[in-house]
Amino acid sequence: MLLPWVRRVAARRLSRDLPLACSCTAQGPSPRGYSRGAGGKGLVLGIYSSEKDEGAAQFTSAGDAFDRLVCGKLRELLAVCGPPLKKGKTRIFHGLHQDFPSVVVVGLGKKNAGVNDQENWNEGKENIRAAVAVGCRQIQDLEIPCVEVDPCGDAQAAAEGAVLGLHEYNELKQKKKPVVTPQLHGSAESEAWQKGVTYAEGQNLARYLMEAPANYITPIKFAERIEQKLRSFSNVKVHIRPESWIATQQMGAFLSVAKGSAEPPIFLEIHYLGGANTNDSPLVFVGKGVTFDSGGISLKPSSGMDAMRADMGGAATVCSAIVTAAALNLPLNIIGLAPLCENMPSGKANKPGDVVRAKNGKTIQVDNTDAEGRLLLADALCYAHNFNARAIVNAATLTGAMDVALGSAATGVFTNSSWLWTHLYEASILTGDRVWRMPLFEHYTKQVTDCPLADLSNIGKYSRAGGACTAAAFLKEFVTASHWAHLDIAGVMSNKDEVPYLRKGMAGRPTRTLVEFAARLSQDSHNT
Ligand code: BES
Ligand code: ZN
Ligand code: ZN
Repeated sequence: MLLPWVRRVAARRLSRDLPLACSCTAQGPSPRGYSRGAGGKGLVLGIYSSEKDEGAAQFTSAGDAFDRLVCGKLRELLAVCGPPLKKGKTRIFHGLHQDFPSVVVVGLGKKNAGVNDQENWNEGKENIRAAVAVGCRQIQDLEIPCVEVDPCGDAQAAAEGAVLGLHEYNELKQKKKPVVTPQLHGSAESEAWQKGVTYAEGQNLARYLMEAPANYITPIKFAERIEQKLRSFSNVKVHIRPESWIATQQMGAFLSVAKGSAEPPIFLEIHYLGGANTNDSPLVFVGKGVTFDSGGISLKPSSGMDAMRADMGGAATVCSAIVTAAALNLPLNIIGLAPLCENMPSGKANKPGDVVRAKNGKTIQVDNTDAEGRLLLADALCYAHNFNARAIVNAATLTGAMDVALGSAATGVFTNSSWLWTHLYEASILTGDRVWRMPLFEHYTKQVTDCPLADLSNIGKYSRAGGACTAAAFLKEFVTASHWAHLDIAGVMSNKDEVPYLRKGMAGRPTRTLVEFAARLSQDSHNT
């Protein structure tokens, strides 16, 4: 028996001769005269899967309009090319329209996909991001410098897919991929499109900082890059605090890590005053900023150690979220704090068994110098309590155990506040950059407070068991605020191929969730 689409095509081809002037390839070479800067733009159009298996696929409204413009040729060509396009699959058509030498049609999956309660994300938005990313990359492969993108009913998601999907770190290569500028196809939804571009550029900034080599992004270079990004905003103040300031603040835990390196530490402090009143209680973000984590004297194995250039992912994501909040002009105050240093072995480095004193006076036995992130954060969290914060949210590539627990599916959130959790969780459903709640039980606290020489040990007493939870319990010892969340982002630090709209490399996650969270907080009258 013939497949339904074969039957449909056969019927059409019997009724009239179908013009096949256009090439139709899944990934074929660009046809002569159209690509390589010859003028014109690429076009990415979405198409939904049919609700019933047998039915024809359904264009988006932009797809429909374009098909009418080319007198129904797109629909006919799609029909002769094969079965209806599955989610994320593409077909390229060349020469359909002079303004668009190459058109990529990409499968969006089911038309009415919304929030998926099992997956904890909005599937429709995720489908759009993934589809648009694939389509835009195909245009990039054809070396066409500009691509118009079908908003697919959600221009923000489409823009995110385009801008995230095209991003690649190639700063230090002589041969770079061609730059492709994505634009909205049509004039509707331009505000949502621009919002998506801003969210995605925020995440791309974090990806850039994380991917860059550690000899390019040292603590001072990191701080200068963020300062430069914020320079144009009159309601932002950036303080780049030097080592002497850190010492005056009695941040002994942070300094103990920094002193092992020849690279001086920096404490970066950002004040974004977007709220109605400059003295409105701010949201305080804190990010772990270890620009390279060798492990120190408890040296890490050399294989894969290069990935520890991204151990400032906490600082990168929170600072990028503030840059994005400023670009969006979000109506709230945000303070960003990033302790930045390297963790290196040297004659001055922490030694296992050393005891250091944090800003709040608590003593810490450094049983493993590779558990350095919590030492920086201990001091930064103490400092965060100076601002009468509505909420304190820290992000850190803190433990390999977090990666073992959840992999790259979601950021682990340890929080003492269900109010805060709800906001983070709801934000993540929209962004698709998910969070998952983790425990802050007393059970884990006991494992860090039972310490021979000091108030706390920097590792849990049962070695690796519940490593992400003992790290969170350690941080809790430096928190008195009633709305605090610790985001362990070690598992989501990099992408292989799990997130289809991010290329392989450092992921910049969960920047968009932090931005969306801040946006929600700015709408929440709940004042604490
Ligand atoms: N930066 C690492 C954690 C990490 C591992 C981040 C893999 C991203 C990917 C952190 O400083 C670390 O080394 N933690 C130790 C803690 C242990 C010694 C208790 C770890 O996870 O092994
Ligand atoms: Zn470490
Ligand atoms: Zn680290």
